[in-house]
Formats: sequence, structure tokens, C-alpha cells
Amino acid sequence: MLSAEDNALLTATSRGTAMGDLLRRFWAPFLLSSELPKPDCPPIRVRLMGEDLVAFRDTSGRVGLLAERCPHRRASLFFGRNEEHGLRCVYHGWKFDADGQCVDMPSEPETSAYKAKVRQPAYSAVEAGGVVWAHLGPRGETPAMPDFPWLRLPPSRVHVTKRLERVNWVQALEGGVDSAHSNFLHATVDSFRRTPEWMERARASDDLRARYHALDRSPVFLPEETRYGLRIGARRSVGEGQCYWRFTHWMMPFYNLFKEGAPKPGVNSQGIAWTPIDDRNCWTLVATWNEHRPLSGEDIETAEDFAGPAIPGTFLPMRNAENDYLVDRDLQASGTFTGIAGTQAQDMAVQESMGPVTARSEEHLGTSDAAIIAMRRSLLRHARALADGAAAPLPARDGSVYRVRFAETLAASGDALDAAARERLCSAGA
Ligand code: FES
Ligand SMILES: [Fe+2]
Repeated sequence: MLSAEDNALLTATSRGTAMGDLLRRFWAPFLLSSELPKPDCPPIRVRLMGEDLVAFRDTSGRVGLLAERCPHRRASLFFGRNEEHGLRCVYHGWKFDADGQCVDMPSEPETSAYKAKVRQPAYSAVEAGGVVWAHLGPRGETPAMPDFPWLRLPPSRVHVTKRLERVNWVQALEGGVDSAHSNFLHATVDSFRRTPEWMERARASDDLRARYHALDRSPVFLPEETRYGLRIGARRSVGEGQCYWRFTHWMMPFYNLFKEGAPKPGVNSQGIAWTPIDDRNCWTLVATWNEHRPLSGEDIETAEDFAGPAIPGTFLPMRNAENDYLVDRDLQASGTFTGIAGTQAQDMAVQESMGPVTARSEEHLGTSDAAIIAMRRSLLRHARALADGAAAPLPARDGSVYRVRFAETLAASGDALDAAARERLCSAGA
């Protein structure tokens, strides 16, 4: 549990709050490049960390990110004309370039120098991995880009999905950090009951996770502080004197690396970002990639199934709170644990059911929550340090610290896998 005061500090995203200011020290992925498909295409509304903005792609192809309200009399620039290297407000024609500089003010006399003095708040935006990233922090303190492998791959090897999740970003992130839930929330009834048929199929699988993951439902979590966040070991006793170890990573501030194929060419990798829209909503961006080959149509279909279908023209999942995520009680009786189709829909159903900002002072945490506790502490500590005048945390300044891997292995029960072994397993060179 967390005090109500710490909960408020942990979950606030606005400028001027300790956590909001910490978040602003990092790049934030928020838009698929395909949402701005070509130069001078229609602008789109963006809300990020409680700030209302408008994004547009100018004539040169550059993405501009401006405060939404026109500085003249506050009309929305969403209705603006995107033309010749700038966005022109349709009310009186004032025009702004991607840096926010007013470059035309046709409602004022031609001799006026007023336009040179008017500047619309503008943020830096860059594109990488088919995604647009924003920096909402102090100018002149540009963060390092996280050195994720998928940002270095050609587009044919990467697929990114985006969905709206109507909860605070920490609540969604906690679902990623807490891998104990997958034995329940994402299980089938057979794996939960460990029926003889299921046990036989699991034993025959050559995939470590399929084979061992459901055998021990109360794994021992070993969260370790690292330069990027946490390396989270989960140890499951699987019988015959053996343990199944799984290492996932929480990376500051809102990333989770939970599945990785490399160096197995056949297996795709996946990582998630939960980017705060405001205190009560976030974007769930899931990157699927393969370092060795282009993704097949089937790979992309699997990635889309993971995210679940969205209402056309939006990123709101079709299975959502308004329709109880289309829960199928017959399926729940004998098929899947939840009766809800789709991994992300299952996550969203439980996370959104907690309310947009859960009351962490009312929780009863158990041993399986060790990683969540460690992550909350780390976030609070970094936010407080920054508010007290410390420099931005290391991962905001050095993208190379993000070079780590998901790992899994079998080890003898008594084998603690010493720190060097854990480090080696998860190092990007492994
Ligand atoms: S309100 Fe935008 S130009 Fe007047
Ligand atoms: Fe999940």
C-alpha cells in the first residue's frame, strides 16, 4: 500500500508536479507516423501529460507539435489549414511554423512587426521506428533516445499497435511489471486446473514458457535496481530439483520489455510503452519486431490480435468498458479464465475496473507484488530527487542503458543464479 499523498505524487502527470516533471525529462512516444501520412495532411489533436496540443506534418515532412489554442484569441489550431510550411489558424489567418514562430499575420498591417514577437508554445518531435516521440521538458535539455533494437530496424521488421487505455499510466505499467497475473488473467481453464491433458501438452512443448510457466503460480520475484530501472527475475519451482527463471525489465519511465526472440530468429520480440495522455488515460503502444527477418502477414495478425480490434478511425478498443469487454460467460466456464478475448482486452478489463486512479492506500499487497513495490519506490525517489534539484536520471541522458534483453532459463533449485549470471543473461550481447 501507499499513502494517499504518495499515490497522488506517483500518478500526477501535469507540468509542475514532481512526477509530471520527471516524465518530461524523457522522450514520449505518442503517435504512429502513419497518423500523419504525408506533408500538409490534416493536423490531429493530441493530449499528452494533460496538455492539449496539435500535431501536423509540414510541407518538408517535419512533424510540428504546438499548443492547441491559437495565441491570438484562442481558437483551436486543430481546424487550421496545413499549408506551405506552417499551420494557419482559420479564424484570422495567423500562421505558425513547426517551431511555433508566427510567420504570417494577415489581419495586421503589412508594416507591422508584431508577428515576430508572437510565438506559439512548441515542443520537439522526432520520428523513429514508425512512431513520433515528443519532448515536453525544458528546452535545451533534449533527452537521449532509448537505444531499443526496433528503432534501428527497417520498417518491414517492426509493427507497432496503439490503443487507448482509460487508466492512469502507472496502473497500466503495474500490469506489465506484475507477471504473476498471467497464470490467471491470461490463462485457459485447463492450464489453471492443470488437467492431465494440459500437463501432457505442456511437457511435450519445447517452449520453456509453455512448459513451465503455469506449474508454479506463486513465483518468487527478485526485482533488482539497474541503471535503466529494474531487472525483474521471477523464479518458479517446476519439480525435479529445477527452477524456471524469467527476466523481464521495467525501463524508466514507462517501458516494459517482456518477450524477446533474439537470438532465436523464429521468435518475435515485444515491448510496451504506456504514455500518459493525462492523469486518467494513457496510450498503450506495443512494438513487435524481429531482428533477423521481415515480419510476415501472420506475425502482424498475431500482433493485432494481441492488441484487439479498435473502433475504426479511433484507437478505442472494440472490447471496452461500455460493453463489459464482450465477456462471454460460457467461454469463461470452460474455455478461458476471463471469458474475454484478447490479451490486451483482458489487461484493460481488470485495470480499468479499478477506476482511473486506483486507491493504493486500500490495497493488500502480497509477495507477488515485490516488483511493483520496487518500481513505485524507484519512481517516487527519482521524482523527489529531481524536484530537489538533482540532474535528470541517467536513462534520460544515456540511451545505451536500455540495451538489455529479456531472458529465460532453467537452473537447479538451489542455484541462486548469482548477480553476474543474471547480468550476463540479460545483457544485449547475450
Ligand atoms: S484566433 Fe487564431 S488567428 Fe485569431
Ligand atoms: Fe497482462
